[in-house]
Amino acid sequence: MATAESIGKEIEKLREQIRRHEELYYVRDEPEISDQEYDKLLEKLKKLEEEQPQFITPDSPTQRVGGRPAEGFPEVVHRRPMLSLDNSYNIEELLAFDQRCQRLAEGRALEYVAELKIDGISISLHYSDQILARGVTRGDGRIGEEVTQNARTIRSVPLRLRAKRDLVGREVEVRGEVFIPRSVFEKTNAEREEQGEARFANPRNAAAGTLRQLDSGVVASRKLDLFAYDLLAGERKPFATHWEALNWLEQAGFRVNPYRELCSSIEKVIEFCNQMETQRDGFDYEIDGVVVKVNSTRLQDEFGATQKAPRWAGAYKYPARQATTKVLAITVQIGRTGALTPVANLQPVLLAGTTVSRATLHNADEIKRLGVRIGDWVLIEKGGEVIPKVLKVIESKRRGDEKRFRMPKKCPVCGGEISRLEGEVVARCVAADCAAQLMGRLLHFASRRAMRIEGLGEVLVDQMVENKMLRDAGDLYKLTLEEIVSLERMAKKSAENLLAQIEASKSRDLSNLVYALGIRHVGYRTAAILARHFGSLETLAEASEAALDDIPEIGLTVAQSVRRWFDDAGNVDLCRRLQIAGVRTKIEQTARATIDERFAGKQFVLTGMLPGYSRDEARVLIESRGGRVTSSVSKKTDYVIAGDEAGSKLDKATTLGVTVLDEAAFKGMLG
Ligand code: IVH
Repeated sequence: MATAESIGKEIEKLREQIRRHEELYYVRDEPEISDQEYDKLLEKLKKLEEEQPQFITPDSPTQRVGGRPAEGFPEVVHRRPMLSLDNSYNIEELLAFDQRCQRLAEGRALEYVAELKIDGISISLHYSDQILARGVTRGDGRIGEEVTQNARTIRSVPLRLRAKRDLVGREVEVRGEVFIPRSVFEKTNAEREEQGEARFANPRNAAAGTLRQLDSGVVASRKLDLFAYDLLAGERKPFATHWEALNWLEQAGFRVNPYRELCSSIEKVIEFCNQMETQRDGFDYEIDGVVVKVNSTRLQDEFGATQKAPRWAGAYKYPARQATTKVLAITVQIGRTGALTPVANLQPVLLAGTTVSRATLHNADEIKRLGVRIGDWVLIEKGGEVIPKVLKVIESKRRGDEKRFRMPKKCPVCGGEISRLEGEVVARCVAADCAAQLMGRLLHFASRRAMRIEGLGEVLVDQMVENKMLRDAGDLYKLTLEEIVSLERMAKKSAENLLAQIEASKSRDLSNLVYALGIRHVGYRTAAILARHFGSLETLAEASEAALDDIPEIGLTVAQSVRRWFDDAGNVDLCRRLQIAGVRTKIEQTARATIDERFAGKQFVLTGMLPGYSRDEARVLIESRGGRVTSSVSKKTDYVIAGDEAGSKLDKATTLGVTVLDEAAFKGMLG
């Protein structure tokens, strides 16, 4: 029988494993196990801790899971105020900042550290004997709010420090920026809209709003992230340079932004600022500039601070990517779920290097909030999203002939009924045969992460729907050469290519198919989880709501949505016809029978960016074929898949003689 002592040991072992995987996943972005495997470990730990609660410690990974609603947040006085930064808006101001620093340095050599200025909100994390004791918001800089339980839900916040304590002492304070990744921000807003709540205006508001949520369960579900940027031991700085502190933070288990540079002159800083400005759209988080800090902590102490900001640091702010233009019209688009999205058609204007002629207005409530009318001059901004948004109406430019806009009472495409459920923000066309919805569904079905039917774009789908060639995605597999050739501007060769593409799409993975069906709340990752769990479309179709809800990564909303989708007779018929057409509806065929040998039991390491696949996708593709993805290259590694900007792992692979595949070769291997 297991003794309390042996359970205690097992608990500790599990925690170590989980911590390691958390760091691989959240900090290094190099997971070794699937999310499901991770959840299993966590579940096991929870169970053991429930059996032997005396072993529960505040740094246990189970303590990240929120739930305990706090009653407001207690106030905490910062030991050292959390200052803000003086801003420079152009190169001259940055040079002036350098000159002030040079003067204060009195001839001593100056080095700067340049870092990205992450657009989130700052937090202070206190560690006592390596354990996270407290998380405090910035508040007014002097007094903040204690949000420890919420901070614990942020996976990139280590609950226990890993690096050596003797370098820094027993009491450590780490400061950093909490943010919401762009991808999560968009999803959060979509969910809020569906639940009838107002959208967050930008990722910073979303991060701030989330961190101050009283229910840490909600915080946990929103997936905040953190970049650490400052280290204090009591009131002093433990290292001689800021650069060393950043490296220590990384070793201690924090995410420190990799885009940082030690600069020997202000010219090098300027170079960094310019380079990052061209790259800023490529990051999964918003930045609004670069922070420049004097590297020597001794000089930092000497320079000191004003009431508001340190003299040893400054922010170089990028120009806001905003412009003013006129709203020429407001049109309404119908998405594949029938959702009506009003869009402002704008007088074309140059914004951050591209000509913008449309901006989203999201929904009727947003139009009301902005008070926007046709003919208004508006301020627009290009933020994290693909399409810019309207920030506000410039009322001083109103002439009185602007027209109010009303959401249509009928679907502008099919004339069908519009329904806006009580408490919902989104209005939808509920007609079963709406051509716009059908078009959206077909385009989604053919999209890259779904069945990847290249060449089946908007123009073609539009014509096919118009000519009643397609009722649903199942009809794609019945198209004939004659039918396709009969379309406008369609040469025989292109038609043949399209047919070949459609044929090829039959052997996509089950995860692609499940995603392609367009079930609400089922994104690519969820589709992959469902595919792996059930193994076939038939089994998935029969799964009860409870069975779906039982899957660790699947919540009730998804479970209900999936069940509802498969309860619809039209959808059941679609699945049947896809199967008859020869579309692969099982997982095993892909992996085991055809490409098993090349993947099964083999170890893969992913490094760099693959333009065609996200890390998740590549991992799912490898794992569903029986391969394993690990994080570091060793003699045991069979293949390194190297994308753009591959770094040290690629060098190591070459040294060890491990086979390196580029994206094209990987694609070939996948078949
Ligand atoms: S250093 C005294 N580093 O910018 C030093 N701040 O405008 C102050 N921020 O309140 C902070 N990224 O919330 C620093 N790499 C970075 C940062 C950063 C974002 C935020 C932080 C601060 C604000 C000042």
